[in-house]
Amino acid sequence: MDKRNLPITFFDSGVGGISVLREAVALMPRENFSYFGDSANAPYGTKSVDEIRSLTLSHAERFRRQGTKALVIACNTATSAAISSLREIHTDIPVIGIEPALKPAALMSEHPTVIVMATPLTVSAAKFNDLLGHYSDKADVIPLGCPGLMEFVEDGSLDTPRLRNYLQELLRPYLDKCSPDAIVLGCTHYPFVKPLIRQIAGENVRIFDGGPGTARELQRRLTQEGLLTDRTSKGSITFDESLPEKIDLCKKLLNARI
Ligand code: DGL
Repeated sequence: MDKRNLPITFFDSGVGGISVLREAVALMPRENFSYFGDSANAPYGTKSVDEIRSLTLSHAERFRRQGTKALVIACNTATSAAISSLREIHTDIPVIGIEPALKPAALMSEHPTVIVMATPLTVSAAKFNDLLGHYSDKADVIPLGCPGLMEFVEDGSLDTPRLRNYLQELLRPYLDKCSPDAIVLGCTHYPFVKPLIRQIAGENVRIFDGGPGTARELQRRLTQEGLLTDRTSKGSITFDESLPEKIDLCKKLLNARI
């Protein structure tokens, strides 16, 4: 089979990576996409680096056996824990990761104040601390671990009083104390609750999400490697989940207008 017509595999600890998948589908509608969410083992963000790395590497091995032309780790947490190991092992295909979109937020104005919402693992990881080091003279950055937030999205509850309370309690003290200019959604589950975050933070706070940039990077790498499909019709999207009952939610999120 022509390698160009193999699917692109997207991976996340659960349903969150669909926020990145939808950007890639919009950009490259003729590609075939295969999505795997590991909801049975979620959340990843409160596990150890070793556990996350071992889960991610073993899933990636399976994707390779099934046949794929590129791997997208649509999970900030798994990227922090496993991207270098994945790139050492899978040297023959593009392996794309995602990181919190701190760069555009830090450069949006003269020394802005930026809150980065992410999982506890992501904000404590060395990779994020390197990123912070790059922008610490350009912005005041407040890393905010959000344990428990991805679970709302995993349950499909994107706008409930309980979620509103959770976000109010989490964000209010920072909004009052620091008047942030921007919030970075540093976990791929969070774009699905962006409307609520916007309501709580107010229209003047800009919200950044790494999904669009990651999809563009995927397109750039596929182009560079001559791996873009030659198909002229619309491609397919297939969902796989370690909890099969989540597949309906995956489809719903792919079409959600958020
Ligand atoms: N969606 C994942 C991310 O981008 C994390 C969710 C989890 O804790 O499993 O970091």
